[in-house]
Amino acid sequence: MRQARPAARRRLVLGALSTASIAALGGLGLVPGAMAADKKIVLGFSQIGAESEWRTANSASIKSAAKEAGIELKFADAQQKQENQIKALRAFIAQKVDVIALSPVVETGWGTVLREAKAAGIPVILTDRTVQETDQSLWVTFMGSDFVEEGRRAARWLVDNVKSRPAGKEIRIVELQGTVGAAPALDRKKGFEEGIKADARLKIVRSQTGDFNRAKGKEVMEAFLKAEGRHIDVLYAHNDDMAIGAIQAIEEAGLKPAKDILVISIDGVKGAFQAMVAGKLNVTVECSPLLGPQLMQTVKDLKAGKTVPRRIVTEEGVFPAEVAARELPKRKY
Ligand code: AHR
Repeated sequence: MRQARPAARRRLVLGALSTASIAALGGLGLVPGAMAADKKIVLGFSQIGAESEWRTANSASIKSAAKEAGIELKFADAQQKQENQIKALRAFIAQKVDVIALSPVVETGWGTVLREAKAAGIPVILTDRTVQETDQSLWVTFMGSDFVEEGRRAARWLVDNVKSRPAGKEIRIVELQGTVGAAPALDRKKGFEEGIKADARLKIVRSQTGDFNRAKGKEVMEAFLKAEGRHIDVLYAHNDDMAIGAIQAIEEAGLKPAKDILVISIDGVKGAFQAMVAGKLNVTVECSPLLGPQLMQTVKDLKAGKTVPRRIVTEEGVFPAEVAARELPKRKY
């Protein structure tokens, strides 16, 4: 008698199982994705907080994409605290969610909890930011931007736009960094420092964290202005929110942002486009928060047993003030 092929044999065997036994196998994660299709996938998502326009758009994208994809989303806002993210991950493990997605506030300190997720058989997706762990098997994929490249793009714009300035005269830059220890803060600094080496006149004279938010961006810029007086030529902010806060500080000091001080930032949120249209910001390097649809697709692929790429890089552009009025109506965040 001819033997059934392996796939056909699997169909036959599963066809012979009772609904109850299939459900039991499903609980053990042994039923192929297609068989468990009618069971709603549960995704636990640990979000950093709501520090910026970017983050708000990111949370909205994830919530609406989950709804659209029919995925049950357990959403936890960590209010900028790593300990809250670790607690949320442990709660997801206890609840036996199907997949965990994590946007880590800082890069280090994740090993223990990620090992717990792995031991429980729950795949982890890193979204937006990555972690520093030697054991790369602790997550299945990392989706998000190339932050080093964003820093390089910001530097490239600056190098191109100071070409006509006098040779030999120092161009003094102040830098507003993101959250201490966060991947985008470390990488955007690295990429920018690398890029400005192309012009020996470019010098970072002050650099401090503004925590990725407007209020702190303003406060730190006030301190920079107090310390440096009128000797600041450029502000490089690791995100638009800090730049918008700093613009206020520049104006209150009686200076013209984007003219007396060049203002460069990252994200490409609507607020930045409005600032460019108002002539107060020179350029924003795009970093897209619209990761929801891609995340849900990856969750579905994982549950269907498909192999997902280890790294999914978001495609992004650079928007100088000259194109802001044309682009603003098209912006989705
Ligand atoms: O991780 C992405 C960064 O986090 C965004 O650039 C910033 O605005 C956010 O808070």
